[in-house]
Amino acid sequence: MKAKSPEDSKTIQTDFVLPADTNSLNNLFGGELLARMDKVASIAAIKHSGSVVVTASINNVSFGEPVPNGSILTIEAKVSRAFTTSMEVFIDVWKQNKTHPEKFKVNEAIYTFVAVNRRGKPVKVPKLIPQTDIEINRYDAALRRRQLSLVLAGKMIPSEASELKAIFD
Ligand SMILES: CC(C)(COP(=O)(O)OP(=O)(O)OC[C@H]1O[C@@H](n2cnc3c(N)ncnc32)[C@H](O)[C@@H]1OP(=O)(O)O)[C@@H](O)C(=O)NCCC(=O)NCCS
Repeated sequence: MKAKSPEDSKTIQTDFVLPADTNSLNNLFGGELLARMDKVASIAAIKHSGSVVVTASINNVSFGEPVPNGSILTIEAKVSRAFTTSMEVFIDVWKQNKTHPEKFKVNEAIYTFVAVNRRGKPVKVPKLIPQTDIEINRYDAALRRRQLSLVLAGKMIPSEASELKAIFD
């Protein structure tokens, strides 16, 4: 399988925040943002793997800033590391509105997807070779996040989490 770069999976969605997407404060509802990010990130994972993918875990989401009704929301996703059948996807989110006419970063999130066959069984994915400094940083940290996610899901014993020894020892 030919190795790929994060750029190969880059996926960008730009869309409005409309009244039906908001909470009672007229800001974007968190669940709506989670769903939009899941769609964009899953397309990035499909581009990398060439397979059907399922969301295995959401490893981190931080809602740093409210996103008011009427804002333009840009979601960018790229695969940040590929393991055997799983891929970590890093998502960056920006808003633009009257207060912030330039793109303003509001959110980051990290999702993990698993490539599967028609029967839902995991299948191998190509390796990822990071290119830029930020891609290399995200690639390096992905192993620690994978171990934390697996420990929290009860799929890895903390003593086997080599990258997390400082936390669990
Ligand atoms: C994700 C899923 C395919 C994993 O299947 P499985 O039989 O448990 O397979 P494995 O334990 O061999 O794990 C497969 C890969 O997923 C990874 N994985 C599983 N759970 C994970 C988690 N919580 N966090 C991070 N990675 C995880 C494993 O590390 C492994 O990765 P690797 O092959 O790169 O080493 C399966 O649990 C599933 O289908 N879940 C439902 C997915 C779904 O419906 N998502 C939408 C939610 S509404």
